[in-house]
Amino acid sequence: MNPFIEEIVKNIAAHTDLSGEEIAGQIALPPNPEMGEYAFPCFVLAKTMRKSPAAIAAELAGKGKPGSLIRTVRNAGPYLNFEVKRDRLAAFVLEEIYEKGTHYGTSDEGSGKTVVIDYSSPNIAKPIGIHHLRTTAIGHALYRIHEALGYRCVGINHLGDWGTQFGTVIVAYKRWGNEEALKQAPIHYLLDLYVKFHREAETNPTLADEARGWFVKLEHGDEEAVRLWRLFRDLSLTELKRIYEKIGIRFDHYWGESFYNEMLDDTIAAMEAKGLLKKSEGALIVDLAEHDLPAYLIRKSDGATLYQTRDIAAALYRHKRFGFSKMLYVVGAQQNLHFQQLFKVLELMGCDWVENCAHVNFGTMRFKKGRMSTREGKIVFLEEVFERAVALTQAIIEQKNPDLKHKEEVAHDVGIGAVLFADLSTRRIKDVAFDWDEVLNFDGETGPYVQYTHARFCSMLRKYGKPVHADVNFSLLKAREELAVVRLLERFPSTVRAAAESYEPSLIARFLLDLSTEANRFYNSCRVLGEDEAVTKARILMVASVRTVLAKGLYLLGMGAPEEM
Ligand code: ARG
Repeated sequence: MNPFIEEIVKNIAAHTDLSGEEIAGQIALPPNPEMGEYAFPCFVLAKTMRKSPAAIAAELAGKGKPGSLIRTVRNAGPYLNFEVKRDRLAAFVLEEIYEKGTHYGTSDEGSGKTVVIDYSSPNIAKPIGIHHLRTTAIGHALYRIHEALGYRCVGINHLGDWGTQFGTVIVAYKRWGNEEALKQAPIHYLLDLYVKFHREAETNPTLADEARGWFVKLEHGDEEAVRLWRLFRDLSLTELKRIYEKIGIRFDHYWGESFYNEMLDDTIAAMEAKGLLKKSEGALIVDLAEHDLPAYLIRKSDGATLYQTRDIAAALYRHKRFGFSKMLYVVGAQQNLHFQQLFKVLELMGCDWVENCAHVNFGTMRFKKGRMSTREGKIVFLEEVFERAVALTQAIIEQKNPDLKHKEEVAHDVGIGAVLFADLSTRRIKDVAFDWDEVLNFDGETGPYVQYTHARFCSMLRKYGKPVHADVNFSLLKAREELAVVRLLERFPSTVRAAAESYEPSLIARFLLDLSTEANRFYNSCRVLGEDEAVTKARILMVASVRTVLAKGLYLLGMGAPEEM
């Protein structure tokens, strides 16, 4: 706990029956600096103290005492607001950042614990489209955020590399495909086949049956089916890995659905042993009516297994292998029902650890006009989005700063960062509309804006050219703009923690936008490299702290932080 919160807790604990932890858990940031640095909402006390929150706030304000760190205690409506001694806050925050450097905001609260994160997980044999951006960006950010909190993270790409869609491409390939064309541009060629299949299937209903037939063959290990499946899978995977590499996304394991095939018999047997399985028109299901959920299909009447079956096997396997303390599935909200069913079935199987599993869902991505549909070939390729953003950055650099060093790298970091940040800065559950103009607009609240602010602060440090020290006179940092920056810097560790707790990287993105805005205000109104040496030293320490925290925040979101741009 930081010493300011400690003093606030003592203040409130003396007059209420709340525990220190309960009090600390409630403390929030007042809406504007005039109200102080910390606010305690009195709603929680209304019941026990039998008064309105506003009356409680007034009473506590009367009893509250300033201390060595706190300057005033005042009430405003239902809130009790604390104003701290500014120089003490600046000293505390800036010294801490100075000492911890890039470790500022990290902790060891997750030490000894493992978090499994299932993200990106595209269906292969189709190109990875823009609709997979969300899971990829959010999952990867959650990985880094948890890592910063000391957790051991295991990132799994649960590729859709098994299922009827492979029957589909096998049929299409056997009818219309050839190996040479396939090898030239595997993913796009497979997409063309996939689209053609669905177009033809509209008038030729036997095609779908044929595809199902080929998938059943594949499940029975038919030689030709397996050979083709392997060909498609390997080509797709190589392509996919190349793209991830380019955008800086990593996984510890590529364990696709097919990885669990050999465990399916045991999985089904375990469910059988618990008496969970029921026959229904030749298929095997788990009846969940009692739990107000539709039945969960485990095996089709033609014997084929399903996405569902493999997800049960995967959960059991991952738990056995990692004994995780948390497992996160970063998957769109369209699959809410699937995960409710999955978690319920695991619970019925006696897996009490299912309470540590979470479906980290997110809203859908739509085109501004019309629907995305791989089947109809209406898809924006993920790689193309990043490529266009990088190309645009290149063009801007050529125009504005053609002599910039490491142009290529900067354009790469900024272009990729722009796309990632655009996705990560909205709350994950919100639906988003995909629009080229918006993705390629770098003005306003964007990743490039944060990166630019970072580069600007790096440049100030270069100009200063001397080592930064923390033994400065903190009382010289008294401008409003300076206090605003300090207040935000202080919130970074709690923001990282909140992002992990609510699985919401957008909290960090928002934080970075706020910090950039305040940092730029400070830059514009406080002269850093001025005449007074003591003031310069204090302000340069601020500059270094801002740079450190911006770079760290960008890193947590999976973005680069160029020092010049
Ligand atoms: N392949 C699925 C899709 O693209 C997502 C898989 C998510 N992970 C899981 N364990 N079900 O929709």
